[in-house]
Amino acid sequence: MSPAPAPAATIVIFGGSGDLARRKLVPALFELHRQGLLAPETAIVGFARSVGSDEAWRDDLDAALDEHGRGGADAGARRSFAARLHAVRGDLRSDASYGELKSRLEAIEAERGLPGNRLYYLAIPPSGIGDAARRLGAAGLVHPVEGDGPFSRLVVEKPFGHDLASAHALNEAVHASFRERQVFRIDHYLGKETTQNILVFRLGNGIFEPLWNRRYVDHVQITVAETIGVEGRGKFFEEAGIFRDVVQNHLLQLLCLVAMEPPVAFEANVVRDEKVKVLRSVRPPSPQEVLRDTVRGQYAPGAIAGRAVAGYREEPDVAAASTRETYAAWKLQIENWRWAGVPFYLRAGKRLPKRVTEIAITFKTPPIALFRHAGCAVGEPNVLVLRIQPDEGIALRIGAKRPGPTMRVETVKMDFRYAEQFGEATPDAYERLLLDALNGDGTLFARRDEVEAAWELVEGVLDVWAESPPPDLPNYEAGTWGPEAATELLARDGRRWRRP
Ligand code: NDP
Ligand code: BG6
Repeated sequence: MSPAPAPAATIVIFGGSGDLARRKLVPALFELHRQGLLAPETAIVGFARSVGSDEAWRDDLDAALDEHGRGGADAGARRSFAARLHAVRGDLRSDASYGELKSRLEAIEAERGLPGNRLYYLAIPPSGIGDAARRLGAAGLVHPVEGDGPFSRLVVEKPFGHDLASAHALNEAVHASFRERQVFRIDHYLGKETTQNILVFRLGNGIFEPLWNRRYVDHVQITVAETIGVEGRGKFFEEAGIFRDVVQNHLLQLLCLVAMEPPVAFEANVVRDEKVKVLRSVRPPSPQEVLRDTVRGQYAPGAIAGRAVAGYREEPDVAAASTRETYAAWKLQIENWRWAGVPFYLRAGKRLPKRVTEIAITFKTPPIALFRHAGCAVGEPNVLVLRIQPDEGIALRIGAKRPGPTMRVETVKMDFRYAEQFGEATPDAYERLLLDALNGDGTLFARRDEVEAAWELVEGVLDVWAESPPPDLPNYEAGTWGPEAATELLARDGRRWRRP
């Protein structure tokens, strides 16, 4: 069944000339257009200081589609897409620019027969977000949420704040003009097909949920490993580090989806209520526990796929003696009836040997090692792996008898791969997220309390790190699986990280 086209709206991209717009947003909107998921009247308006005429912006985005689109598009679709595009030159910090934007939007809407629905996408530097949200309200560009009038929605990119206080202040600024149901905070991991499948897998099948608890699960590992370094974002990374950049959002979102209770309905607030409960059930670690249960790492020069790469401290805009972490591991405990006593081990790192995001659930071994008495090796535990990317799929590791006259147990894999089963290219997360925002469905977006609860948790670790001397950095070579201390973190519990 194809999804319904979104209601006719004006999509205003603040930061229409920027990297995110060119690399992600416009290619995603083009795909939606190609698939007939945008209403014919829908217009896309780019706002920035450096955009020129409509024609110039259209040419620029045509080039962006060549570079970043999925390819295979026909010229007709490109032409009809270009006709939706309009550019408005302006400065986010100037009230006059918002006035000009307002008149241009009204003119475009009158010309295209649009009902006045607006989706404002803030693809701008994080420091400008609160101010832009306020000014939008002050300029009369936000319709109130009550009544049957057109909608005004705001999409906000990550990073959503730098810590709890700044996230809170940002929420206050956004809420000066927009109500919570008008706000869509992006975490693009939630838009990934396989992330969405975590809940379908758990709750759309009868056999897994009964096993999904402390009686049967030994421990859970969540890995977000990347081969790339900081890719020219040294300045940003020096302020953020991997804990803020990836753990606070993507990793904790995956944790929530794996650990949450089944929601009573697949509805935005019901699902998000359950996710918030997970975050609130994580036991806030004491300073001693932070030092014991977390690991910080930073990459030294090394090699990725045979190619020599620089260390973090040699990256542009990075201090020569930087102590910023590019790797983090964290053992945490969720204190509720389902998970008490089951450790969750999280890790995220740059310049690791392989790009892979996965969740591995290791089950307890059978209570009796029956086959040991027949002279066989003791079976490995069953491991269920949800592979988010790449090579999306689900694999279950089980013991099986090797054919032959003797009783030999071997570990084999039952494997489901998306590409083999469905054959289609997986849509980019932004396609789904833009469509949902246009449709007003916030299920795959982070709610205010969710973002703040995640910051509260993460801040408990960051505060202790800030006050304790960092380990001797750099402490792992690019192209290896992280610092030795991360191996020890699991070895202490008699476990080891999976080699994905
Ligand atoms: P860029 O620096 O490439 O783009 C920033 C955009 O904001 C430009 O179009 C710029 O246009 C515009 N802008 C900046 N200041 C003003 C101003 N005063 N008035 C009007 N327009 C302004 O950043 P990105 O596209 O990379 O990032 C945008 C946001 O998305 C950031 O919050 C980032 O954290 C987030 N993000 C980006 C990702 C990516 O892959 N790029 C991934 C995840 C999040 P101009 O200079 O012409 O005015
Ligand atoms: C972004 C982080 O949010 O996610 C980047 O800022 C990281 O540092 C990226 O590389 C990873 O996303 P993906 O979709 O490539 O796994």
